[in-house]
Amino acid sequence: MTATEPTEIAKIAKQIEYLARALKAPRIRDAAARLADQARDGGWTHEEYLAAVLDREVSARDASGARLRIRAAGFGTAKTIEEFVFDHQPGLKRDTIAHLATGAFLAKAENVVLLGPPGTGKTHLAVGLGIKAAQAGHRVLFATATEWVTRLTDAHQHGRLAEELARLRRYGLLIVDEVGYIPFEQDAANLFFQLVSSRYEHASLILTSNLPFARWGDVFGDQAVAAAMIDRIVHHADVITLKGASHRLRNTGIDTLPSARTENTAH
Ligand SMILES: Nc1ncnc2c1ncn2[C@@H]1O[C@H](COP(=O)(O)OP(=O)(O)O)[C@@H](O)[C@H]1O
Ligand SMILES: [Mg+2]
Repeated sequence: MTATEPTEIAKIAKQIEYLARALKAPRIRDAAARLADQARDGGWTHEEYLAAVLDREVSARDASGARLRIRAAGFGTAKTIEEFVFDHQPGLKRDTIAHLATGAFLAKAENVVLLGPPGTGKTHLAVGLGIKAAQAGHRVLFATATEWVTRLTDAHQHGRLAEELARLRRYGLLIVDEVGYIPFEQDAANLFFQLVSSRYEHASLILTSNLPFARWGDVFGDQAVAAAMIDRIVHHADVITLKGASHRLRNTGIDTLPSARTENTAH
């Protein structure tokens, strides 16, 4: 029997609506109706029609999941890799970023370190890669190094540091922006070291810094802690050094900023 009678079609539409709601997939109802005519006109097989309807639901779920993950990540800005102008950063290979954007590094719990002076696009690229990771289904959290330290200090003071570190390990990617702008107290440096250790070979980090590794000892107030931390970070990592004048100063006529040491307060 084929349902060509208008009453038959309406009855089946109602049934699909009921079933879609029961499956908690209300979009299937719309897709089923919308694609039915297309399927009839195009002479699709039953299987092709079913696949098309289910595909709409899965894509919609992926997209809304990605949107939620992007919102939950706490990116200050929503800069995308697509918006990054590679011509302004000639030393940077497009392929390197394109490969990172596939998210392959996340599956291997590898890290990315973006180094360079202020305004060269470190935060932009970190956020762009974070968005790609969220779209690929990974949970992501973004914060500045100072904010991470505040969070860890708080957990430590409440006796739940181990719990917090375990919870954070469930995130495929943590982004630590602006390592080096503000030096850490000894306690803070130790907490930060524990964060890096807890993720080592488990889950990825993206870090950005205006300082070369050689200067991280000053930031962490302890050369040994800094060395041990850098060792773990770079063991499985892409280290990308950005160069040039600040993008923020383009067309302002200002072509140099004070030296790196005083950049500590520049943002
Ligand atoms: N190559 C680039 N293409 C497009 N926009 C850029 C580029 N480099 C920097 N920017 C923009 O310039 C501003 C400063 O970049 P940002 O990533 O915050 O720099 P950093 O974190 O290195 O200080 C941002 O608005 C960013 O989007
Ligand atoms: Mg930045």
